[in-house]
Amino acid sequence: MSRWHNPVRVVQGPGALEALPALAEEALAGGGRALLVAWGEAPLAEPAFAALRERLGGRLETTVFPHSNPTLAQLFEAHAATRGKDFRLVVAVGGGSTLDVGKCLARLMGETVADVDALRARVAGKAWGACACRWIGVPTTAGTGSEVTCWATVWDPEREAKLSLDTPTNYAFAAVADPALTRSMPVGLAVSSALDAVAHATESHWARATNAVSRALAVAAIRTVMTHIDGLFAGDEAARAAMTEGATLAGLAFSGTHTTACHSLSYPLTLRYGIPHGVAVALLLAPVMRLNASVCDVAPLLGAFGAEGPEAVAARVRGLLLRAGLRADLRGWGARAEDLPGLAAHGFTKGRADNNPVPLDAPTAQALLAEIL
Ligand SMILES: [Fe+2]
Repeated sequence: MSRWHNPVRVVQGPGALEALPALAEEALAGGGRALLVAWGEAPLAEPAFAALRERLGGRLETTVFPHSNPTLAQLFEAHAATRGKDFRLVVAVGGGSTLDVGKCLARLMGETVADVDALRARVAGKAWGACACRWIGVPTTAGTGSEVTCWATVWDPEREAKLSLDTPTNYAFAAVADPALTRSMPVGLAVSSALDAVAHATESHWARATNAVSRALAVAAIRTVMTHIDGLFAGDEAARAAMTEGATLAGLAFSGTHTTACHSLSYPLTLRYGIPHGVAVALLLAPVMRLNASVCDVAPLLGAFGAEGPEAVAARVRGLLLRAGLRADLRGWGARAEDLPGLAAHGFTKGRADNNPVPLDAPTAQALLAEIL
């Protein structure tokens, strides 16, 4: 038996932004005010946001959340600023970090979390009832898929941990993915974000929790991204549109499965060395594919990659990263061989590592990391 469910209405592709004002008004049909959370002012110059302001008038407040990899402390600060305001809609505009924060703010709306320690416990808690505040995700990168998933990543640097606020009550009211918003992405970010989407799709395909719908979406996502990704280096508009489409498909694929070993092992790499998320997961793709090929049929994935085997996938990923000016080995980001046991020990994320089709024990995790050192 195979199950897949996703309640997010998705408006995707060139021109999608035009749908935003009407969607926001519909989300606020019951009354109340909206909070627009953006990573910066730049994307708000798009005409759709002027139309949104005009449509909602005094019911719209705007705030900027400029941080990447949001920490508990930063989320707490943002939550504290919304307390007592009782917004009924959050429109989050940005990369995965901004969308995750917007998603958390919506989920926490109406609650009074006392401090960072209380927030740590709240994020990890499972007791989430109905959500009084809707949210709309408007990605400005093409990769994270946060606009169509019901979980959000929050980092806890004090405990060197990655937390996930994960509840089916937190799917977006709508996702609006328009490639026009990805125009200003530097090529390194565009490539690493696209490879993050490829990892979401690939891991969704072989996840223990996989299903027929996710696998179909995953293959389409990988093919779409890998066929057009080279166009990013030329600033090609069709390539950007393909990345938005592929990232949306990948997001829908893994919204029903979660990720696996690549994501699980990547978190300490990002926490310790600041390796961009998309780079960290992309480096692990081929080693984990080689491992999982012992129990899974990876032929559909290889077909979508246009690769003959995991070695060809590794070479393709490395080539893309280097061409984008990004280091394609852990040493290049500051890791040393003696770090590997600690990285492996911190790489077991519940719900991700145990979602890998091949069990991930410490020696296996270390061997995978050694392959990309
Ligand atoms: Fe990811």
